Amino acid sequence: MSPFLSSLWSSVGKKAMMGLTGLLMIGFLVEHLIGNMLLVFAEPATFNRYAHVLTSMGGVLIVAEWILIIILAAHVVSAISVSLGKMRARPEGYKKKASAGPPSRKSVSSMTMIYTGIVLFIFLILHLNTFKYGPHYSTVVDGVEMRDLHKLVYEVFAQPGYTVGYVVIMTLLGFHLRHGFWSAFQSLGLNHPNYHKTLNTLGIFVALLLAFGFIGIPIWIYLSS
Ligand code: HEM
Repeated sequence: MSPFLSSLWSSVGKKAMMGLTGLLMIGFLVEHLIGNMLLVFAEPATFNRYAHVLTSMGGVLIVAEWILIIILAAHVVSAISVSLGKMRARPEGYKKKASAGPPSRKSVSSMTMIYTGIVLFIFLILHLNTFKYGPHYSTVVDGVEMRDLHKLVYEVFAQPGYTVGYVVIMTLLGFHLRHGFWSAFQSLGLNHPNYHKTLNTLGIFVALLLAFGFIGIPIWIYLSS
């Protein structure tokens, strides 16, 4: 193995990769939430036009999607490897970790990262199957024929099962981000004690913003349909 790859695959390298890819995915989620807010605050045509602009980008979109897939794969592989390493180093598992006292950052969020991560990964496959690869309704906006994604999203969240499912999964997303955000800076070595409090508060803010933002959309659509 080359020196670069072996340092990337060291325990420090894997943690840094997990942190960096996690922060990049948070960036995607912020952009995704802002775009999806059009479902609530704009006309159906505005949301469909936005989705159409994205899907019309052709090669640029394909490159962006592949970058996202590589980032996700690197995050999943490094997270699984780090978790397995921890379990091997501590064979009694998580049983005795209920409380770690005030100086520790151990919490429900930190102890369930691998489980919330697995649920989110499965969610992502189902999510893409529901929307990206779901039924293709058509509409015409300003004389241009395009996909009526707005109709699909409203149809999906008119079903209580989907809305409840999204609320539950987005709550788990909040838990995952609450620890993940703070921990990413730690893994990247950007955890100067002076910034501990700020990063911790920022982590709570980012987790609440994204979780409640994504929870609000299906609930609003369900109640308005
Ligand atoms: C209420 C919550 C959400 C709604 C309404 C929503 C809606 C959508 C829609 C309509 C699409 C299809 C876009 C298109 O084909 O042009 C999409 C794609 C996608 N969503 Fe979501 N989403 C939500 C939450 C999430 C979450 C929490 C994640 C990540 C954990 C996520 C990750 C993705 C990804 C990766 C794509 C594919 C993007 C692409 O290929 O360009 N979404 N979402």
